[in-house]
Amino acid sequence: MYQIGIQKRGSMSRKKIIAGNWKMNKTPSETVQLIEELKPLVKNDEVDVVFCVPAISLGVAVETAKGTNISIGAENMFYEESGAYTGEIAPGMLTDLGVKYVIIGHSERREYFAETDETVNKKVLKAYEHGITPIICCGESLKQREQGITIDWIRQQVKIAFLNVTADQAKTAVIAYEPIWAIGTGKVATTEQAQEVCAAIRACIGEIYDAKTAAEIRIQYGGSVSAASAPELFAQPDIDGGLVGGASLKPDFGKIVNYNK
Ligand code: PGA
Repeated sequence: MYQIGIQKRGSMSRKKIIAGNWKMNKTPSETVQLIEELKPLVKNDEVDVVFCVPAISLGVAVETAKGTNISIGAENMFYEESGAYTGEIAPGMLTDLGVKYVIIGHSERREYFAETDETVNKKVLKAYEHGITPIICCGESLKQREQGITIDWIRQQVKIAFLNVTADQAKTAVIAYEPIWAIGTGKVATTEQAQEVCAAIRACIGEIYDAKTAAEIRIQYGGSVSAASAPELFAQPDIDGGLVGGASLKPDFGKIVNYNK
């Protein structure tokens, strides 16, 4: 297959990245408690560990995670610097707190908050301007999978998300492949399904940029990842970790981060 060369060169050198997506869960004080509880469980030098928490808890999360291997990420941000955008969070507000990552274009934001591939692209460009690493989400619905258009759909999402993004920027991005039908449903994609789409995403990045960029970019799988499914998923050549919702709020997240132990 055309992407084998890319896999061979890259898969050994890419560090796994496992991120928790807390969604709209935990108050600021509960955030402190949960990070304290998870701190000793998520130590793994071979993995980048990120906790993406609600905006209101980002400050206490950064403080609580200081001196640990946990980086803090936001779950969303706006693409303007400042101004009359009631309720939105600017990128400079995130960097001021020490936030390193931001999830962009999660399917829940696309579904409930009218985000589009175009707003995703604007946010990705803005995140790079501020040195924040975007975790860019893509994924198909069950209907799209049944129609056999998954790969075409994902390729389109990826192509628009990366418009005007340079190769130097793109190689530091994280892409999260999250089939919508697998999110919060307990229906994890099969290892083959997840690997197939992640390989197609890497090939698409190779077409947009070059083999080197494709080999360096990290691609996560997300959707009902559990301590049981993580080892096999993360052993796939094109899956560089996971974006974890429900299980990131439990001690099980420690087992997911230590999937290789
Ligand atoms: P889940 O959520 O692990 O609860 O399915 C994943 C996500 O939405 O990022």
